[in-house]
Amino acid sequence: MRRRKQEPTREPGSGSHGVDRREAESFVRQFHREQPEAGDVERRVREVLAEIDRTGTYAHSPAELVFGARVAWRNAARCIGRLYWRSLVVRDLRHVTAADDVAGACFEHLRLAGNGGRIRPVVSVFAPDRPGRPGPRIVNDQLVRYAGHRTAGGGWVGDPRAAATTERARALGWKRAEEPFQVLPLMVRERPGARPEWYELPDGVVLEVPLRHPDHGWFAELGLRWYAVPAISDMVLEIGGVRYPAAPFNGWYMGTEIGARNLADTGRYDLLPVVAERLGLDRSSERTLWRDRALVELNVAVLHSFQEAGVTMADHHTESERFLRHIAQETRHGRPTPADWSWIVPPVSGAATPVFHRYYDPVDPRLRPAFLPRERPDGCPAERPGGCPQG
Ligand code: ARG
Repeated sequence: MRRRKQEPTREPGSGSHGVDRREAESFVRQFHREQPEAGDVERRVREVLAEIDRTGTYAHSPAELVFGARVAWRNAARCIGRLYWRSLVVRDLRHVTAADDVAGACFEHLRLAGNGGRIRPVVSVFAPDRPGRPGPRIVNDQLVRYAGHRTAGGGWVGDPRAAATTERARALGWKRAEEPFQVLPLMVRERPGARPEWYELPDGVVLEVPLRHPDHGWFAELGLRWYAVPAISDMVLEIGGVRYPAAPFNGWYMGTEIGARNLADTGRYDLLPVVAERLGLDRSSERTLWRDRALVELNVAVLHSFQEAGVTMADHHTESERFLRHIAQETRHGRPTPADWSWIVPPVSGAATPVFHRYYDPVDPRLRPAFLPRERPDGCPAERPGGCPQG
């Protein structure tokens, strides 16, 4: 039986679609296959299908929700950190729909995930889309992100990646500051199309690490910092045909995400020239590899600072080795590990890590459960200049 690809013409964000019976059945069977102690599969299949026929959708049992969310992580082809997929903490917040309550629960998510520095992978699952009753949406692409805007002179203050989100927040009445690491407010829509409510993140919710270098005192003077919990909030969690449009999730950072991308990309904080200058490197020619040398020192600073602050962070060598262990473990369970090479290989020292030197099981976009990119019904431009997909 061939499944049709997801209908791209579906009215964006309407959430009015009923659940596909085959998706539901195939999920229930997978759940029982992997959790044989869960009881009578045929009975549960009948129950779910009857509920879909009656209401257009169905409610996952708490155990199905936990399993579904964890497997969505296991299926995430771009994620190198999947070894710990079974440890994902799943918060069942399906009864939460009001914007104020969603925001409050997101702040609690950040506290739980931050855990005083011992980062825990957490997903908070808010109300699903039901026929005629769409769930809430988080406008931000991460629960924590630094604002960014252009200056009159054509330069940037803050993170250019957040330009559209910053502009949105400003249009809603939020006051941006002229500082490079100002945390954006959280914007929540109670339903698609509704005007977002915005909330300043309360004190104590955003764990941040000021950056310094183990050997260079001047590094701290650059005034750099980064937040501890990367919590993606713009992906839809789809389990057994049910779509959860607000399901923010986090893991811990791998140093290169910050040191080789967020602070280094020319379209982000663009700090390699600054760091190279302070290191006294010869920038008269590319051949001196001043960029590469600055990159390494920036990454040393990121790893060192998180370590000293007692905040969980992986280095790319260790995380690569863990990923290969994950693949071996999945193989023993008879499961493939679809992976996207271009996302798995770290952005520095690729070939110095073992994940570089091999290919992976092909990525199947129909694989479920999954975290899926959200359609942008709000017309908010994707913040990926040049369509660059990475990171
Ligand atoms: N690369 C993104 C960032 O720098 C975060 C993506 C998720 N990363 C993670 N370690 N779970 O903010």
